[in-house]
Formats: sequence, C-alpha cells, structure tokens
Amino acid sequence: MNVLGISGSLRSASAARRALERALAGAESAGAQVRLLDLRALDLPLYDEDEARYTPVQRAAVARLQETAAAAGAFIIASPEYHGGMSGVIKNAIDHLAGRHFRGKAAGIVAVAGGRVAPVSTALMLRAVLRQLGAYTIPQQVLLPEAEQLFDTAGNLADAELARRLEDLGAEVVRLARALAHSS
Ligand SMILES: Cc1cc2nc3c(=O)[nH]c(=O)nc-3n(C[C@H](O)[C@H](O)[C@H](O)COP(=O)(O)O)c2cc1C
Repeated sequence: MNVLGISGSLRSASAARRALERALAGAESAGAQVRLLDLRALDLPLYDEDEARYTPVQRAAVARLQETAAAAGAFIIASPEYHGGMSGVIKNAIDHLAGRHFRGKAAGIVAVAGGRVAPVSTALMLRAVLRQLGAYTIPQQVLLPEAEQLFDTAGNLADAELARRLEDLGAEVVRLARALAHSS
C-alpha cells in the first residue's frame, strides 16, 4: 500500500505541508509506504485543455504528476484556505488528473486556515472534487484554524492532540485502502 500526499501550498514554512507530513507519518506507522509530492519542484503549468501548447518541460512535469498519481494506492490531500476555498495550486494539480487516477482509491483531507474559523468550506470543496473523481474520502478530516501559530520554526507541532488526529487520519486512510483492496 502506498499513500501519496499532495499539498496545495508552495510556501517554505507551509502549515498545510507540515500537517500533511504528520498525517503521512501516521500512514507510515500503519504500514504504508508514503510519498509527499513536492509541487514546488514539479513546477506544473496552469492546466490548458489545448495540451499541445505546453513546452516539453511542462509536458514532462504533467506526465510525472500523472504517473505518480496513477501509482498511488491512496491519497492525502492538504490545502490552505484561500478566500474561503481550496488554493489554486491544489485545484490546478487536480485538474491535471482525472477519474482514472482516483477512482476506487481511499483519500483523506487536511485543510489549514490563517483565521480563527476552521476551513470547513475548503474541506467540503475538496470532498466534492474527490467524490466527482470517484475517490472514497474517509469521514474524518483535520481542519486547522490559526494554523501558522501551531508549528514552531523547525516545523514541529506542539499540540499533541492535533498531532494524534493527523496521524489517526493517515492510519484511517490506510485502513480504508486495505479494505478496498481486499474487496476488489
Ligand atoms: C490569497 C490568500 C487568501 C487567504 N484566505 C483566507 C481565508 O479565506 N480564510 C482564512 O482563515 N485564511 C486565509 N488565508 C490565510 C491562509 O489560509 C494561511 O496563511 C495558511 O496558513 C496558508 O497555508 P500554508 O501555511 O500552508 O501556506 C489566506 C491567505 C492567502 C495568501
């Protein structure tokens, strides 16, 4: 079982990526192989249905994303809340993918926000998009308001309860992925 994490923030000190790392650690403890796809390194183009317009370098980046997603057994998607919704970075990455990359696979959702209100609408949007693509999202989700204050400069999460919830989410994705693999 391998779990692919994708984060929708390119920022070095990204809370979404740090939270995702913790969720992936939970998936790893549950016995999965984990990988965090670094969208900063991938440098995807904006999705264009006229794919012939991509440069060779852009085409290679899109192919790398699609191959990595096709090989994933399950996903954990993390997004910051931007203007009440998921970031353009994560939506653009998902737009480069299709149902064949997600259908029948387990997925977990993590969302972070700068404000005091939990990023519920971002999580709902991610859930709707993943449902449209045929993924089975687990009911649990971890939503982190005031997220930038949760991590220290080294990226550590001081709140043990939040750390446990993120790890549990990762483990639950693995549990569902295994159940789906056994039932097919
Ligand atoms: C363009 C933009 C829009 C944002 N909109 C919201 C918002 O609607 N609600 C909120 O609570 N925080 C909002 N924020 C704050 C981010 O959610 C917060 O900085 C978060 O930690 C960013 O994720 P990251 O740490 O993974 O980069 C916004 C930030 C940016 C840059």
